[in-house]
Amino acid sequence: MVSLGNDANHKITTDFKGKHILSLTQFTKPAIRKLFGKTRWLIKRLKKKKDIDILNGSVSTLLFFEPSTRTFMSFSSGIKKLGGQTVEFTNPNETSSFAKKESLEDSVRVFSTYTDLIIVRHPENGFIQKMAENSSVPVISGGEGNGEHPTQALYDLFTVQQKIGRLSKLKVLVLGDVKFSRCIHSLIKGLALYPGNIVYWLAPKGLELSRELEQDVKKQVRIVKVRNVNEIPSDCNVWYTNRIQRERFKSNTLYKKALRSLPVITPELLKKKGNKNLIILDPLPRVNNIDERVDDDSRALYLRNQLENGLYVRMALVALVLGKI
Ligand code: NCD
Repeated sequence: MVSLGNDANHKITTDFKGKHILSLTQFTKPAIRKLFGKTRWLIKRLKKKKDIDILNGSVSTLLFFEPSTRTFMSFSSGIKKLGGQTVEFTNPNETSSFAKKESLEDSVRVFSTYTDLIIVRHPENGFIQKMAENSSVPVISGGEGNGEHPTQALYDLFTVQQKIGRLSKLKVLVLGDVKFSRCIHSLIKGLALYPGNIVYWLAPKGLELSRELEQDVKKQVRIVKVRNVNEIPSDCNVWYTNRIQRERFKSNTLYKKALRSLPVITPELLKKKGNKNLIILDPLPRVNNIDERVDDDSRALYLRNQLENGLYVRMALVALVLGKI
């Protein structure tokens, strides 16, 4: 099988064409600058209702082994808005030849013969990397197990840049399931690209940040454990929360226990520990981690800019990877 010869360690400087997108560690500052520049260009064209049929003639495979609303829809809709087409498998273990125990290698041969790009979500760490190694077309991760969710972090960073105006010298509080949240892992790796960032983390017992991730980034980012809500610094730029990743738990009892000590974003907490320039992000879905009364607060961006940017950043990314912009 022809391999593109790039993996999670393969850096992207400014040339996205043909690259797999598997981890935030592949990204450089120029790559992020380019992606965000193209995203802004696309947003302008979309708002002016200008022709953006740049993916005309391309077909992408969407292969989602785990449930998804936003990631699946934004890729699917974004590609179509750009004039591209998709072949979509939700639950491929039942609907594709994976159900007949076809090997990953053989299946990838089919996807990359029939389409120009493969977008995959899978519960097992390493699966998407293996797909990429066997694919002659680029593979984009749509989230993998408790590992990474690179495209999520890319639009989270875009939202931070858009609202705060910089990606360095930030104080970012991540709260919730810091252990299993792939979104938080990718976000921290993204923040590690820029100088002077501090990541505070607050998690229920048993769902702490892994030592391994802390080791990986600690030269670039200061990591600070926050023991309880009273210790949250009141000058944070970002609060980033994610629900407890129930599907990663072996027992329901443990899940319920963790849920009891989940830090919840409430108007009261915001009043006590927030500030007027703060922004609140959540990749969604939210499950008990944000009180609905917070939604009307203008600092709450999860159902506004963040959600919307998911569409735009993914559109730009697909167009770059396919070499169309
Ligand atoms: C996230 C995921 O799948 O990791 N969802 C998403 O893509 N927006 C977050 C989650 O499921 O909690």
